[in-house]
Amino acid sequence: MNSRRDFLKQMSGAALAIGARSPVMAWADPLLQEQGIEIPGEDRMIVRSFRFVDLETPVEYFNIWLTPVNHFFVRNHMHEPGELSADDWRLTVSGEVEKQFTLTLAEVSRLETHTVVNTLECAGNGRSLHRPQVPGIQWGKGAVSTARFSGPRLRDVLQRAGVKASGKHVMFRGLDEVPGKVPPFIRSIPIEKALDSDTLIATHMNGAPLTRHHGFPARALVPGWIGAASCKWLTEIKILESEFVGNFMSPGYRFPNQPVTPGDAVKPEDAHVLTGLNVKSVISGPSDGGTLKSGRVVVHGAAWAGEADVVKVEISTDGGATWTPAKLGHEQAHYAWRLWSYEWKAKGGDYTILTRATDSQGRTQPDAPVWNPSGYLYNAVDQVKVHVG
Ligand code: MTE
Repeated sequence: MNSRRDFLKQMSGAALAIGARSPVMAWADPLLQEQGIEIPGEDRMIVRSFRFVDLETPVEYFNIWLTPVNHFFVRNHMHEPGELSADDWRLTVSGEVEKQFTLTLAEVSRLETHTVVNTLECAGNGRSLHRPQVPGIQWGKGAVSTARFSGPRLRDVLQRAGVKASGKHVMFRGLDEVPGKVPPFIRSIPIEKALDSDTLIATHMNGAPLTRHHGFPARALVPGWIGAASCKWLTEIKILESEFVGNFMSPGYRFPNQPVTPGDAVKPEDAHVLTGLNVKSVISGPSDGGTLKSGRVVVHGAAWAGEADVVKVEISTDGGATWTPAKLGHEQAHYAWRLWSYEWKAKGGDYTILTRATDSQGRTQPDAPVWNPSGYLYNAVDQVKVHVG
């Protein structure tokens, strides 16, 4: 397996190959982000950060139900683990349990396997669309992808350890290389979600072992929840009496309890830890700013709703005055997005095409996003502007 240094060397080679730009500055170059660059194992992804690997999926790729691994977005808060071998990797289970133990990858692989198709979305997806803008990785619409994850149920491992009545939260620690004073990637989820039959210690994605970008050799998979819940390069599971206290639980990944206006300071106690995803749909074609021929145009995209199911996607081609249901794709699974399409008879003119989804909890995408200081959970009605010639 390549070391991080080899990887960065390869990345800078890729950057140099397309125009001798400094890789350190490349993340800030919108032209480079638009062009996409080749990164080993990835295919024309939008590079949001070189320092740590943060890759966005172009929305044009949202036209296939299971995202190929080389099109699946990548979100890293720090450096990926340098030297990680399947033989050396260990997973410890400890804390509020009757019996603590350590598992090898071979032992994990022998446990009964379960499979979940899950749409994984970063809580910061769409952050760049908030106004006023907020700091953080400036994700467009593509920090979201869908894959078939498999591995043992977390529940089976917890039952083997025997969770004590005092065990209320389950903590995950990743093996990331922590730069400088950055705190390690540790988060926790409530015991109820940990015991859900669909919460996994995933070792495979789309039928193949996890790649390094996605958490080789094992990650937590907490379906329907923000991506941050699904800890990559999992090395430790600890059962706690109460929620883990640390940077990635507070102040990170919290949402204000009450609406806030830009400039308001939000104290951690006035915000809650993010869990399930919002209802959301995105147009993957036609492309924003495109020119189309008049006649039949297929508007298409994807819609998802975290732990709920998408029940309806509607399209408007008249700026939101009227809405017509789109056709939902036949491929579906509880935590996975639905592809959708809509046949539009386009006549000459300039149009804003809008899409909004509604889910089984009765939630509908709002016209305007709910602004918050970290730009989490953006889910306003999506739109593209097109010219029909
Ligand atoms: N796990 C570790 N150890 N380190 C991380 O930086 N990022 C989280 C989560 N798990 C992260 C992590 C975030 S914010 C997201 S959105 C998902 O991983 C992204 O998973 P992916 O890179 O496989 O798409």
